[in-house]
Amino acid sequence: MTDPYAGFPAGFFARDDEQPDPVFYGPPRLVTHIDDAAIAAVGDLYAELAIDGSAPRPRRVLDLMSSWVSHFRTPPAELVVLGMNAAELDANTAATERIVRDLNAEPTLPLPDADVDAAVCCVSVDYLTRPIEVLAEAGRVLRPGGPLVITYSDRCFPTKAVHGWLATTDEQHGALVAELVRRTGLFTEPEVSLRTRPGRGDPLYAVVARRT
Ligand SMILES: C[S@@+](CC[C@H](N)C(=O)[O-])C[C@H]1O[C@@H](n2cnc3c(N)ncnc32)[C@H](O)[C@@H]1O
Repeated sequence: MTDPYAGFPAGFFARDDEQPDPVFYGPPRLVTHIDDAAIAAVGDLYAELAIDGSAPRPRRVLDLMSSWVSHFRTPPAELVVLGMNAAELDANTAATERIVRDLNAEPTLPLPDADVDAAVCCVSVDYLTRPIEVLAEAGRVLRPGGPLVITYSDRCFPTKAVHGWLATTDEQHGALVAELVRRTGLFTEPEVSLRTRPGRGDPLYAVVARRT
């Protein structure tokens, strides 16, 4: 079988802290990871893509690598949140279903095929050690035409981000995430954009592709 990671340097998806993720993510962190303008940019993007609760559809959205906030201006009717920490997910008032799962230990989603109208992942893709498998799973559970929306900034937990992310720039991160999405073979060509004003606070970049 072809290696989906062919061409990436050895150690690209390794991390300084290789302890099992439940150790690091055990204590709840009821904090925000980006500034207010970047959070607003995430909500604006979701509204623009018509994946929040103000749109007639979608009604069912998956927030991958979620915490106590999902950044929708108006939450969708059904919001499935998946993350590492049960207390954080319990505190997410927008959520209607909660899944605690370590995607680095088990890179699959316990959801049926074509189950959700949209999938989002905010400021977290850099922690995945098997991102292509996880993104392929996002593609499996997305309905045709449904958007995959991956956002990132320039902040991270450095001991938990993969080495390849730490060694590359914001612009290269866009190319990297787009390539990971492309390698699943399940999405339209990813579009990368900067959603915040350059030089003002935390940058917020988005990579958006649709399930084919
Ligand atoms: C920087 S926080 C971002 C949380 C949230 N998406 C937000 O926008 O505030 C990183 C999140 O990634 C999740 N995460 C990290 N490693 C994970 C893993 N191996 N499996 C599933 N989720 C993970 C954690 O639960 C944590 O909530």
